[in-house]
Amino acid sequence: MDPCELSPSYVRSIAPYQPGKPISELARELGLDEAGIVKLASNENPRGIGPRTRAAIEAAIPEIARYPDGNGFELKSALSRRHGVDMSSIVLGNGSNDVLELAALAFLGPGRAAVYSQHAFAVFPLATQARGARGIVVPAKDYGHDLEAMARAIDDETFVAWIANPNNPTGTLAGAAELEAFLRRVPERVLVVLDEAYNEYLPPERRADTVKWLKRHPNLVLTRTFSKAYGLAGLRVGYALAHPSVADVMNRVRQPFNVNSMALAAATAALDDMEFVARSYAENLQGLKQLEAGARQLGLQFIPSFGNFLTLRVGKAQDVFKRLLRRSVIVRPVGGGYGLPEHLRVTVGTAQENEKFLAALAASLKD
Ligand SMILES: Cc1ncc(COP(=O)(O)O)c(C=O)c1O
Repeated sequence: MDPCELSPSYVRSIAPYQPGKPISELARELGLDEAGIVKLASNENPRGIGPRTRAAIEAAIPEIARYPDGNGFELKSALSRRHGVDMSSIVLGNGSNDVLELAALAFLGPGRAAVYSQHAFAVFPLATQARGARGIVVPAKDYGHDLEAMARAIDDETFVAWIANPNNPTGTLAGAAELEAFLRRVPERVLVVLDEAYNEYLPPERRADTVKWLKRHPNLVLTRTFSKAYGLAGLRVGYALAHPSVADVMNRVRQPFNVNSMALAAATAALDDMEFVARSYAENLQGLKQLEAGARQLGLQFIPSFGNFLTLRVGKAQDVFKRLLRRSVIVRPVGGGYGLPEHLRVTVGTAQENEKFLAALAASLKD
């Protein structure tokens, strides 16, 4: 007997998450110079990290031999001040991915279901399936979440609704009025997980005051991350804001030391690197415009994006992806799990990286 058959069938049938190709792997595979490779595949911040964050990371080195503060007091205090919520409403995670898993662990299981949109963030089906819960996939509307249809699709077994806003990989945004209508409509039994990983990239007039909604909707969970605008993807730190009872159950299923000490120190400092985040936001908008203009010049359609990435329709995306690799540019094909076989997702890089990508794309489309 293959020992993997001892694992439940719903676990065995999980399709592995496909991460962006690491630079070192591409260099090894194609014999390329690492320094010349541009990676625009995982929606990271091309600007690195801010000065306060760097200083905090250096200051945290001597403490590495000790376990981190399992309750993350300093970071929770800073988040509590930033968002005007009680510390008991905060759940810290090893990236916001971890926090999504904690929501699934605490609220899903066999005999339960979660609803999410076609083309929604890949972790939603993964976290649902890993708990033996049923996924209810609702067809997308203009590539985005069809919230009315999602509300209609909720059945008696549904305990979670996953919504990424903006969504990855489509970059689509649901408006505040639409989201509030959804929250009013869904049964209180359904935990609405609003994943706001790209929140800091939204223009101020598009940023709904979702934290305020927590008071009215005890079934709402907001998730945020330090991986994107704050530049801390490699350290893994994210968090959820929720009703204290919801945060309490999520904290019970959390590993005691799920966020490491360096990540805690870096994230606490990163909240004060306001200028860095503001510049990341402004440069991202510029970069998006640059990529959109380049796509138009190449006659390519794209999905208008509210994140730090743009998803372009290039035809045979796997082929174009491979041709780009040979030109030292790594992007992300979004076929397979995402159901967008003709699209490639490119992260907004620096102006030079975007230019290199557009030149390589122009050449790759001609090959
Ligand atoms: C929509 C969305 N949510 C969550 C995440 C998870 O990010 P992290 O675990 O680094 O916080 C990502 C990462 O790409 C994302 O695109």
